[in-house]
Amino acid sequence: MSVPKAELHLHIEGTLEPELAFELADRNRVELPYADTEELRKAYQFEDLQSFLNLYYELMAVLRTERDFEDLANAYLARAAAQGVRHAEIFFDPQAHTKRGLELGTVVEGLWRALGSSEANHGVSTRLIMCFLRDDSAESAMETLRAAEPYLDRITGVGLDSAEVGHPPVKFREVYEAAAALGLRRVAHAGEEGPPAYITEALDVLGVERVDHGLRCMEDPALVERLVRERVPLTLCPLSNVRLRTVDVLAEHPLPAMLDAGLMCTVNSDDPAYFGGYAGDNFDAVRQTLGLTDERLRELARNSFLASFLEDDEELRGQ
Ligand code: HPA
Ligand code: ZN
Repeated sequence: MSVPKAELHLHIEGTLEPELAFELADRNRVELPYADTEELRKAYQFEDLQSFLNLYYELMAVLRTERDFEDLANAYLARAAAQGVRHAEIFFDPQAHTKRGLELGTVVEGLWRALGSSEANHGVSTRLIMCFLRDDSAESAMETLRAAEPYLDRITGVGLDSAEVGHPPVKFREVYEAAAALGLRRVAHAGEEGPPAYITEALDVLGVERVDHGLRCMEDPALVERLVRERVPLTLCPLSNVRLRTVDVLAEHPLPAMLDAGLMCTVNSDDPAYFGGYAGDNFDAVRQTLGLTDERLRELARNSFLASFLEDDEELRGQ
């Protein structure tokens, strides 16, 4: 659906479509262990978050130069614009690239070549959010934050992603404190596969302003009450939840119950190249399968701008 909306939960590396992966593999002379795009697409059958992450990290091998990151981001922005996205807050995973020997500057400057001209080229305003890999150490996260200091004019906030269970938010207390001291906004994935207690910890220990996913809050009525009272935005990703088997089928997604409970929900695509759809496709899917009314869909679109890191005057332009 092309209603104007903001996308607040989008991993740029998760927008790598098979065709672009092969194009970049050719350009950079990287060997992929798949014969062609068809064979690669067949690998998109996931059991859980980790089975997806394995492929997600493997395919990043084709991203080598500033131009690769620029092409990746431009391809996403064009697709997002076509589906009504007017503003995108884009995650990237610096450690997934620096551990392969890339410079952080290659990633940030490459992305910025596309993001810096996105309003003019695609009609999409952008923010960049640097995520720490929670299955890497807190020391590595802190080193990444320090390495990012020269690029803070390009980075709006920090996030936390990758394998959730066994890596509670508290592990990153110091790095989030340091990020706050640098004036960075804070978000974190919590309650995707991890328990509701991780959501509480992300709020209380990391001071996050939004919770990415947050789906499992529904297991804890007191937490739901708190999230409603404090109007904490949740960045839900319905098609992702189905593909990663967090919910069995889309028809059983708790989004309608979450809206009925008064939670501030938004709908996003997460890793659209892997999960079968961009932001508009996610809106279409929940409209068709969950029978959301037009009023509910307008609420979701309105929430996406309210929960964004746009300034008030920019927000109004978006709607
Ligand atoms: N969850 C956690 N980490 C991620 C995801 C996700 O859906 N996508 C990319 N990194
Ligand atoms: Zn995510």
